[in-house]
Amino acid sequence: MLKSIMCGAVRKDNVRQQVTLAGWVNRQRDHGGIIFIDLRDRDGIVQVVFNEQENKEAFDVAARCRAEYVVQVQGEVRARPTELVNSNIATGEVEVVAREVKILNESKPLPVPVAPDQPPADENLRLKYRYLDLRQPRMQRNLVLRHEIVRYIRNFLSERGFIEIETPLLIKTTPEGARDYVVPSRVHPGKFYALPQSPQQLKQLLMVAGMERYFQIARCLRDEDTRGDRQPEFTQLDMEMSFVEREDVMALIEELMTTLIETLTPEKKLLAKPWPRLTYAEAMARFGDDKFDMRFGMELRDVSELAKGAGFKVFDDAEQVKAIVVPNCATYSRKQLDDLTERAKAHGANGLAWAAVGENETRSSFGKFVGDERLRAILNQLGATAGDLALFIADMPSVVTATLGRVRVELADRLGLRDDSVLAFAWVIDFPLFQWNQEESRWDPSHHLFTSPLPEDMPLLWSEPGKARGAQYDMVCNNYEVGGGSIRIHDRKLQEKVFELIGLPYDVAQERFGHMLEAFEFGTPPHGGIAPGIDRLTMVLAGEPNIREVMAFPKSQSAVDLMLGAPSEITQTQLKELHLKIAE
Ligand code: AMO
Ligand code: AMP
Repeated sequence: MLKSIMCGAVRKDNVRQQVTLAGWVNRQRDHGGIIFIDLRDRDGIVQVVFNEQENKEAFDVAARCRAEYVVQVQGEVRARPTELVNSNIATGEVEVVAREVKILNESKPLPVPVAPDQPPADENLRLKYRYLDLRQPRMQRNLVLRHEIVRYIRNFLSERGFIEIETPLLIKTTPEGARDYVVPSRVHPGKFYALPQSPQQLKQLLMVAGMERYFQIARCLRDEDTRGDRQPEFTQLDMEMSFVEREDVMALIEELMTTLIETLTPEKKLLAKPWPRLTYAEAMARFGDDKFDMRFGMELRDVSELAKGAGFKVFDDAEQVKAIVVPNCATYSRKQLDDLTERAKAHGANGLAWAAVGENETRSSFGKFVGDERLRAILNQLGATAGDLALFIADMPSVVTATLGRVRVELADRLGLRDDSVLAFAWVIDFPLFQWNQEESRWDPSHHLFTSPLPEDMPLLWSEPGKARGAQYDMVCNNYEVGGGSIRIHDRKLQEKVFELIGLPYDVAQERFGHMLEAFEFGTPPHGGIAPGIDRLTMVLAGEPNIREVMAFPKSQSAVDLMLGAPSEITQTQLKELHLKIAE
């Protein structure tokens, strides 16, 4: 080894030891006669001292060192005098007095900053030079955390009888609601493999195969628009169990996640243990979102009964009126309120009505229509007191829910109520099995087409499919959907009924999913599973604002790998071998 100890690991215990360090020059400071080099490696930074009087040769080499040069230093660890201790870094009580230094490689000035105290560069530049960007201690910490998470998961599940099984990437369509990435076949002209949107069917077939407890740190590929929490390529902890009910899967995952967080990020506070469970209907009613944020209040409240029929046309004409109460914002100016109204409109509302409760008087946008008494009654129902600002949206329930839910989260952001050190995990259950697709006049599965209805709702498939609830469970945290799963259908007849309801003609269902239907005829055990997203989980635990910060080589917003330059054209020869022509 070219080093005997990591830079970031040197401590008081090492004082008077001879050490060999190797790493990158984080900073070189020339104090005339004395040069300090902050030497950095993956573990951290340590100060190296070069004294011209004591060691001219090493001093001269140090004088040539620039930022990001790769150097090897031999020297002795020395305690720093008390007044020179740097409490900002872990090695701050010591320094290394260089005896010998060797430049292992030079570096041009970097196009992106990597030192911990510098602000990050423009993201596209960071992605182009990702191999440099990843030198940032923050990025290295994130990837180490990600590794620890995956290692914890592997140990936890292995101890509980799960086996990790790899499933192929070149498969046939496995729909999870996105477009497929496809790979043309050279051997079979005109035919394509689809890359898995998830290993869903394969893990179910592993249950048919008698594996009973499977997991995989699985790559998933979905051709959909990227967002802060969405990448075309991402990783799931994919798992499946035989002979279980939804309680079993949820209990196991909750234990895994809770102990993982307590072990790896003890500084984070779990808001509630055990995790609250909300039905989908309750989540939508209280938060206007099925991946809600529970770190703050301001829940949606239905005031339709009092608000309607009092003479304010906007409320009277609407199907529903709901409100949130924002604390400490009663002093909002007219301009701030107009801004809020614009935000609500941007989310799809027709407007926003408000009432600001002061110590002595209440200002409001609709008091003059409904009268003081009614206004007071509404505010009483909301429990609004002096200092509170109540915001109202009137519309169809679906619009009220979605728009007021967004306003709630935006305001919490503005008010600093979304504390990153708090993790508000919760389960959402009892989703409707189907959602009506207006454009196509058919039912779409809420989760995916292999999800079983709740046993007691089974008969509804033949009478009122829209009322059937699925045996689905989503795991949410701080406004992210971190995982989703379900108990599956294991019966051919039931699976065929679901295909029929989602408008899949019999022959198409046979062609696409015949292998599943056939497998269900050979003693398929009852089974279910889940897939937490590793990227989203790591992002939440690292306190990062988007998943690109916890992935080594993510794609840009427009799904481009800016470092490699992918996607790119292929040669005429390749096109020909694949029996492809590019259409003009
Ligand atoms: P689902 O499609 O809900 O379920 O995905 C499960 C979890 O994967 C993560 N995820 C993503 N992360 C980053 N980028 C994306 N584009 C992306 N899409 C999804 C989320 C999500 O909660 N086969 C089922 C699971 C099952 O039923 O067992 C499935 O894939 O964290
Ligand atoms: P208008 O009658 O459109 O001038 O609106 C009167 C007041 O009601 C204004 O403060 C609007 O912002 C508000 N308003 C309009 N539409 C809605 C709505 N759908 N929900 C809540 N308030 C609304």
